[in-house]
Amino acid sequence: GDGLLVLGIETSCDDTAAAVVRSNGEILSQIVCSQADLLARYGGVAPKMAEEAHAKVIDQVIQGALNKANLTGKDLSAVAVTIGPGLSLCLRVGVRKAREIAGNFQLPIIGVHHMEAHALVARLIEKELQFPFMALLISGGHNLLVLALDLGHYIQLGTTIDDAIGEAYDKTAKWLGLDMRKSGGPAIEELAREGNAESVNFSIPMKQHKDCNFSYAGLKTQVRLAIASKNIDADIPIVSASSEDRRSRADIAASFQRTAVLHLEERCERAIEWALKIDASIKFLVVSGGVASNQYVRTRLDQVVKSKGLQLVCPPPSLCTDNGVMVAWTGIEHFRVGRFDPPPPADEPEDAV
Ligand code: KG4
Ligand code: ZN
Repeated sequence: GDGLLVLGIETSCDDTAAAVVRSNGEILSQIVCSQADLLARYGGVAPKMAEEAHAKVIDQVIQGALNKANLTGKDLSAVAVTIGPGLSLCLRVGVRKAREIAGNFQLPIIGVHHMEAHALVARLIEKELQFPFMALLISGGHNLLVLALDLGHYIQLGTTIDDAIGEAYDKTAKWLGLDMRKSGGPAIEELAREGNAESVNFSIPMKQHKDCNFSYAGLKTQVRLAIASKNIDADIPIVSASSEDRRSRADIAASFQRTAVLHLEERCERAIEWALKIDASIKFLVVSGGVASNQYVRTRLDQVVKSKGLQLVCPPPSLCTDNGVMVAWTGIEHFRVGRFDPPPPADEPEDAV
């Protein structure tokens, strides 16, 4: 029915997140605890450290989500948790907690695929979004173009052959000496506004490959070379850079962003042509995942999608980056059609997971 209440738990990467969502789409609470600070200090995700960081905050994140929604475990209909893809040590922190709560309150449990959740959360915000639809999922680790035929039935139209676009944003930010306490993407987006996007001539990846796959490793190399040729020193933070140095960093950021997004635009255009041949009734293209929170990305892709006669659906930024709402919502979608696991035994020993 429309009264289901589902707790969603997400620990696949560097954010610990939980949310409570009602099956009518109402978001009762949403909490995200980021490890960006920690990662900035150590320069990347070290699995063991990330696991410890999740374990440290998971209880307060989940309790916070329940409190904010004015609920206890007794009120829930089910628990949804991300089971992959992601770092297994990190995933296990969430799964262990989900099983503990589901055991204590005898609730069904729904294992959720992280990328499916990025795509399906669009159906929470856009009620007109019916299957079949297309989705471009862009994050730090993934770069996917899919045709969603039905719940659980997806055709992959394209993926990256090396890096994802978010990885390219993050490395570019690091090499440009940007503040890494936030993630790299938002820092590049902000700096790019000051720059001239046509000042550095980066070539668009995979021009000669007439498919829907992506590649960002070559663009990363081009950026690194451009940074070296301008004598930019990443050890000098941008706040301490001379105005001339700052301008050349902004130019590289803007030129990188333009090229990175042109690659997305070309692939989306072709994917829409392909997909419409498979099913001419497709009306929507969803863009989701962390990079979809970028305003430049949204504006450019909106134009492409419109020019092809489709409509863009892009969740609000807080639902594009990793969050518990998308996990809870995807849990609801599966639960409704009977896809869930029975409650684990109430007295399951800790090491059974
Ligand atoms: O989906 P997500 O939160 O986590 C993964 O599943 O990877 O995506 C994180 C990625 C990071 O690479 C981050 O730099 C990027 O999304 N990102 C952005 C922006 N906000 C986050 N990239 C470009 N512009 C942004 N505003
Ligand atoms: Zn993600």
